[in-house]
Amino acid sequence: MEELSRSRALSGNHSTRLSRSVPLSPPNLLTLAVVLASFFGGAQCIRLANRIPDPAAGFPDQPSRTAVFALGSFWRSEAVFGCLDGVVRTAVGYAGGSKPNPEYRSLRDHAECVQVEYDPRLISYRQLLDVFWSSHDSRQVLGQGPDVGNQYRSIIFTNGTEESRLAALSKEREQSKSKSSVVTTQIQHLETFYHAEPEHQKFELKQKPLILQLMGNLPEDELQKSSLAAKLNSFAAELCPPHIQKQIDAKIGDIIRKSWPLLRNV
Ligand SMILES: *[C@@H]1O[C@H](CO)[C@@H](O)[C@H](O)[C@H]1NC(C)=O
Repeated sequence: MEELSRSRALSGNHSTRLSRSVPLSPPNLLTLAVVLASFFGGAQCIRLANRIPDPAAGFPDQPSRTAVFALGSFWRSEAVFGCLDGVVRTAVGYAGGSKPNPEYRSLRDHAECVQVEYDPRLISYRQLLDVFWSSHDSRQVLGQGPDVGNQYRSIIFTNGTEESRLAALSKEREQSKSKSSVVTTQIQHLETFYHAEPEHQKFELKQKPLILQLMGNLPEDELQKSSLAAKLNSFAAELCPPHIQKQIDAKIGDIIRKSWPLLRNV
């Protein structure tokens, strides 16, 4: 009740309403969830902040798969994959080294990487590899741009012979594009993917308090599992395709202009 009246009191003040600390009443959350969900297209997408639908759940015989890539800073890597059709979830972490339970400040021989959970009926491993190659410079030695060091090296982590085969083929193809320098990307069997600390998950999205608020300020564990958050993390980094960037931008503008839609019905 207190939250509701605070929301009402705020309805005449746009700038205050956009601050991160304003609590959302459940009806607001519902509307926002519907509005945001309608954008990402699926009828099954109407979602409440506390109920994350799992697109793979309805098809137990077709479980989602995971792929792990290292391509520089994992803040950006997560945003590279989050907006792709068929990507269900993303997470950042560490792999490729020998130190058990690495942490950001003591990675040792691990690399920063992204774990991509995907629906193989909607996107193939081969397509993910294409995105991997086109999203970083595989010929820079131990780094990406100004991020230099062992933790930023380029790696395709494979799990199974089919992934190894596809990875090796794609690397050959990439090398054949130019012989003037060497593709430094390693192909490694994935031993263990260690999740990174919470503050590194959905990092780009966390720089945008407004979007977090529009999603209902989800608690950390829900944010990490959310497909919507994976998409909006890409949006925040401006790594969605241009037409999707525009679409989401327009929708956010709409919500701001019209104020909280469901308040009118309370
Ligand atoms: C490798 O794939 C299998 C399923 O094919 C999965 O159960 C296993 O957890 C994966 N390994 C790693 C390290 O992710």
